[in-house]
Amino acid sequence: MQTTDSPRTGAALGWTAGLAVTAAAATFGYASLVERTLFQLREETLRILPPGVKPLRVLHLSDIHMTPHQKSKAEWLKGLARLDPDLVVNTGDNLSHPKAVAPLLEALAPLLKFPGVFVPGSNDYYAPRLRNPFGYLNTSAKPITKPRRDLPWAELFSAFGAAGWIDLTNRSQSIGFNNLRVDFTGVDDPHLNRDQYAPYPNGSSTSAQAPHLRVAVAHAPYQRVLDYFTEGGAELILAGHTHGGQVCIPGYGALISNCDLPTWRARGLTPWELGARQVPLNVSAGIGTSRFAPVRFACRPEAVLLTLTPRDRT
Ligand SMILES: [Fe+2]
Repeated sequence: MQTTDSPRTGAALGWTAGLAVTAAAATFGYASLVERTLFQLREETLRILPPGVKPLRVLHLSDIHMTPHQKSKAEWLKGLARLDPDLVVNTGDNLSHPKAVAPLLEALAPLLKFPGVFVPGSNDYYAPRLRNPFGYLNTSAKPITKPRRDLPWAELFSAFGAAGWIDLTNRSQSIGFNNLRVDFTGVDDPHLNRDQYAPYPNGSSTSAQAPHLRVAVAHAPYQRVLDYFTEGGAELILAGHTHGGQVCIPGYGALISNCDLPTWRARGLTPWELGARQVPLNVSAGIGTSRFAPVRFACRPEAVLLTLTPRDRT
């Protein structure tokens, strides 16, 4: 039997196609022009400090992906200093352009006055490349091994160091905060397979008995990394890299994590479990995007303020 489309059906299909194209264009416009710069502060409270010590306010920054002329991002970063954190933790991917070091350091100048620690991400070492945008949805998440164009990471990290921020690239170090000693361990970017775990310091003769907290820091939260941090005694793990999925489905969440982390953990505070141990893991959705994928949808850019408070004596 033959069927024929009526002119009315053809017109309806045309209208539907037109509406779909318009909706897609509007969504892309919103994702690239609006939500990408809707910076927000996520606040979390964790009762993980030893009893009797003062609360500690930790500002977690990640995935800034700075390029020149990003005025709104720079102003927002400068304004974070009003939070007066005790500590800034930067989990990498600071750059997205070879000429971004100066504007990034200017934007971070107010925060560089606070104590800080940092680890690198692949987008500190290597410039982003133009890729098939649909490749973003490839969930195979294999670590990058091809050589790419260098970014001026050494210049950036020496400026961080000159300001007093501590480089935790495959090393551990302790910092004193009032009557609390915070032991840090950090790794080079696991996405590049450069991570080498450094055990926590044992503590010097003067500080071994002080109340302390063990914090672990990485750029990409691969499961093997979370496991060895947990096994090593971490009490808090901070990471970035996922961009929270970057393009999410409202009511569902992330479609990818860009590593082997389950997508429901791509953003936020979740417990990481290994045997009987359970460690709070904070994954930042990040502040920027690659300059070749400048969109965010249902996934606003964020910094995270973690207020750590003491446990009960019981
Ligand atoms: Fe990133």
